[in-house]
Amino acid sequence: MRKSKELKIHDLTFEPFISNIQIKERVRVLAGSMNAELVNKNPLFLAILNGSFFFAADLLREIKFHCQISFVKLSSYAGEKSNGEPRMLIGLNEEIKGRNVVILEDIIDSGYTMDRLLKHLKEHKPESIKIATLTFKKEALKVSLKPDYVGFEVPNKFIVGYGLDYEQLGRNLKDIYIKKED
Ligand code: IMP
Ligand code: MG
Repeated sequence: MRKSKELKIHDLTFEPFISNIQIKERVRVLAGSMNAELVNKNPLFLAILNGSFFFAADLLREIKFHCQISFVKLSSYAGEKSNGEPRMLIGLNEEIKGRNVVILEDIIDSGYTMDRLLKHLKEHKPESIKIATLTFKKEALKVSLKPDYVGFEVPNKFIVGYGLDYEQLGRNLKDIYIKKED
């Protein structure tokens, strides 16, 4: 029998992993660091759609100084495994040159998506780029990359919820769930 907290999405079963309360608390801590470190930097926050919309919404409401926010899209993911071929950036209307950019991502897995994004942004000559990711699959990382703000280091297993999807479902879940081992 399936336990009540378990959740089925398409063919996979997930179980609770990180609660909304834990997420909110951690996001407040990250925002606290940013409030101290970025206050005089006039940062441009770049939230990567679709996955980072909850993270961006919760984090940015905890930022205490005036800041600019833009939403861009760079999508690569089909199904459960990253294909390592991220597509290009769309929706970037802001001038990046000379700005302190803070990327907001939902997850770094292989890191290919972030690597590609960084290369693209660097061409626009920003003053600096910082990476904030809600979740980080450190063991899965295949490129040299160090996020500046990490919500949670997570195991190399599939997770959904709080913006993260499994084949487009599960983004609206308040909590983060992890794939149940068979
Ligand atoms: P990367 O290029 O391998 O780092 O993958 C980054 C993208 O893969 C993320 O933006 C997500 O869209 C997706 N992704 C990687 N792992 C997961 C996961 O566990 N759940 C949901 N999406 C994931
Ligand atoms: Mg994503």
